[in-house]
Amino acid sequence: MKHLTLKNGEIIPALGFGTWQIKDEQCTEAVNTALSVGYRHIDTADGYHNHKAVGQGIKQNGIAREELFLTTKIFPGDLSAESVRQKVDTYLEELDTDYIDLLLIHFPDHSVPLAETLGAMNEAKAAGKVRSLGVSNFTVHHLKDAMETGVEIVMNQVELHPGFPQHKLRDFCKEHDIAVTAYSPLGRGEALEMDLIKELASKYEKKPGQIILNWLLAVGLIAIPKSTHHERIKENFESQDFVIDQADIDAIDVLEGSERLINPEFAHFSY
Ligand SMILES: NC(=O)c1ccc[n+]([C@@H]2O[C@H](COP(=O)([O-])OP(=O)(O)OC[C@H]3O[C@@H](n4cnc5c(N)ncnc54)[C@H](OP(=O)(O)O)[C@@H]3O)[C@@H](O)[C@H]2O)c1
Repeated sequence: MKHLTLKNGEIIPALGFGTWQIKDEQCTEAVNTALSVGYRHIDTADGYHNHKAVGQGIKQNGIAREELFLTTKIFPGDLSAESVRQKVDTYLEELDTDYIDLLLIHFPDHSVPLAETLGAMNEAKAAGKVRSLGVSNFTVHHLKDAMETGVEIVMNQVELHPGFPQHKLRDFCKEHDIAVTAYSPLGRGEALEMDLIKELASKYEKKPGQIILNWLLAVGLIAIPKSTHHERIKENFESQDFVIDQADIDAIDVLEGSERLINPEFAHFSY
């Protein structure tokens, strides 16, 4: 399994399991299945309302905590220092764990100074409740603001899939050693239907999703596909068992023209 070393020295499995829009028993079962097929990185968020179900899936599986990389996110509205302090303790209780590997600001919220939010997150890190700090849905402009606070952020989790490759943002992150996680890596299923992806699936005798995930890891990104189906969870995990020619990786990487799929009103993507 491929791993990346974050700029603070922490190690993250490059392929993670996404849990948005799965809750309760379905989420518990999916997390348990993902861990059973080999995933060692689970992505959740307070806004997904599934922390307890994720925690139960981990417990049911029985995997040792130190083998697992767990990411969660703080939702806009909870980004004051006081809220961050309370929320981190709540997350630990809900997830039934002593620490969070990676804590992200889920979306930027201009109503609270970033220095306040990141300062409180940094306190949680100093207290050993969190190992690494990062952000999600941040533009280059937001990242520059975050870097000015002096708090070390190691990750930006953003929408990224074939046709929506985010090159400018990736280049900026690379320059500043901020790792990038591709969320909605399969374009929420839509990218599986793209002509080039289907052609390459046939060329390599693999599934379209495996081609996409192989590309993302080949270009140095982290990907967190979600599925509720056992065979797809396994199929997605097995996306690293083959090598795609560099020319084909490059061809996927220059695909453009897909729409941004996640664009809630409170996001600030034009900032
Ligand atoms: N930070 C953020 O703001 C943010 C935003 C969005 C997502 N995320 C994270 O990223 C994760 C993944 O994104 P996502 O859930 O939006 O979309 P995604 O992983 O790109 O796609 C999920 C969709 O593709 C289907 N699928 C998965 N594997 C498949 C396969 N092998 N063959 C055919 N269909 C397949 C799933 O259906 P089935 O479940 O029926 O298999 C589901 O409908 C989320 O779960 C979440 O953890 C973060």
